[in-house]
Amino acid sequence: MQIYELLKEDHIRVKGLLKELVNLDNGKPQVRLALITQIRDELVPHARAEEAVFYNALRTHPAAKEIMSQVYREHIQAEAMLKVLQAGDKLNRGWKKTAIRLKKALENHISEEENKVFPIAKRILSSDDSVRIGEAFEAMKPKVRAESFLGTTIDLIANLLPPRFMKSFLLQERLGSEN
Ligand SMILES: [Fe+2]
Ligand SMILES: [Fe+2]
Repeated sequence: MQIYELLKEDHIRVKGLLKELVNLDNGKPQVRLALITQIRDELVPHARAEEAVFYNALRTHPAAKEIMSQVYREHIQAEAMLKVLQAGDKLNRGWKKTAIRLKKALENHISEEENKVFPIAKRILSSDDSVRIGEAFEAMKPKVRAESFLGTTIDLIANLLPPRFMKSFLLQERLGSEN
């Protein structure tokens, strides 16, 4: 499958989850937290793989340079908002405002990718290229997902440990993952 179709499938899924999020009421913090985690698990692997295989193939091209640095910045902004949403969640304050901002920002980002980046990419990349990039994208996404899951688990465990154990635990984890 060409990269464009694969990216569009993810975009539809993320937009659906964001719509669900802004429609939640205040009474269900666990449901909200689970949904925010689900959005992150969709968004982060998508963005990392998209940057590595798709953006990278375009970013030095004169016709794409400017828009690529813009959409790249939008990834950073969206992930920062997602962090605010995760951190603020326990306090149950103002989450909806941030959720609405994130939804708007990502809808705008997605429309820029599909309506500005895709047409430029289709001029630069052959259809063979776009199939190869699609394959690389699909191969990379689960790897990013596994890495970010491992990172989250290590953070969670480290947060539960008394400080004197934390150092050796983190050191062991690091040594373990090098083997
Ligand atoms: Fe995307
Ligand atoms: Fe993106």
